[in-house]
Amino acid sequence: MSKFFALIPAAGSGARMGNELPKQYLALNSRPMIYHAICTLCQNQFIAGVFVVLAPSDGEWHKYDWSEFSEKLVVLSCGGLTRADSVLNGLTAAKQKNLVDSNDWILVHDAARPCLTSIQLDKLINELSIDEVGGLLAVPVADTLKRCSNTENRVAHTESRENLWQAQTPQMFRYDLLTHALRSATSINVTDDAGAVEALGFHPKLVLGDAYNFKVTYPQDLALAELIIQKRNNP
Ligand code: CTP
Ligand code: MG
Repeated sequence: MSKFFALIPAAGSGARMGNELPKQYLALNSRPMIYHAICTLCQNQFIAGVFVVLAPSDGEWHKYDWSEFSEKLVVLSCGGLTRADSVLNGLTAAKQKNLVDSNDWILVHDAARPCLTSIQLDKLINELSIDEVGGLLAVPVADTLKRCSNTENRVAHTESRENLWQAQTPQMFRYDLLTHALRSATSINVTDDAGAVEALGFHPKLVLGDAYNFKVTYPQDLALAELIIQKRNNP
């Protein structure tokens, strides 16, 4: 029987956040941001283990007590220069430690998406566990899209948003396919796991998620995530 594992790439610096502290450690509801994703993933009944991929130079992780998650949490200090490198290094390290099998499902989830709910996570697993390829949480694009023509920020034209979706995480693929895809993708610029799988000619499934599962990227996103989590804790 294939098992389900989560892998959280958390080796980024958060350049767009503009804070000296990598954004995954910024305080969100009195916890470092990454705590929230770890908590949702570790509490999930289907998930057998959660790998967190840190930068080798990480000096923050050890400042917190993670013992409540010790049954499932495995720290891998092998992050790379890009997100794809961090995911691939984490997958390779987990295999070297005999923690995963080739056929197991891997759910890659950004440390910077703290508002993932167990409902969304269960939905993703239920919809994809019998799928040939795998897929990802995503939401249809709601806004009108403008193509910018030049450096003066003038509109060249309006893009159709028909059939356009915004990719989120978790992105769920079997170990072997994902590893093969990321290894093959080293020369192309993939910004998510599905992109690497697509480059092999596969068509990952889009599983309808919700807008709450946005990625905290800019300072204002942090305040929004805090409001969402506070509201959930005090409905
Ligand atoms: N990530 C990673 N290794 C990298 C780059 C990113 O593990 N070399 C992780 C981030 O820590 C984050 C996730 O990938 O959890 C999504 O990336 P992003 O939101 O772009 O985070 P950063 O790269 O840290 O932010 P920025 O692009 O603004 O620098
Ligand atoms: Mg980045």
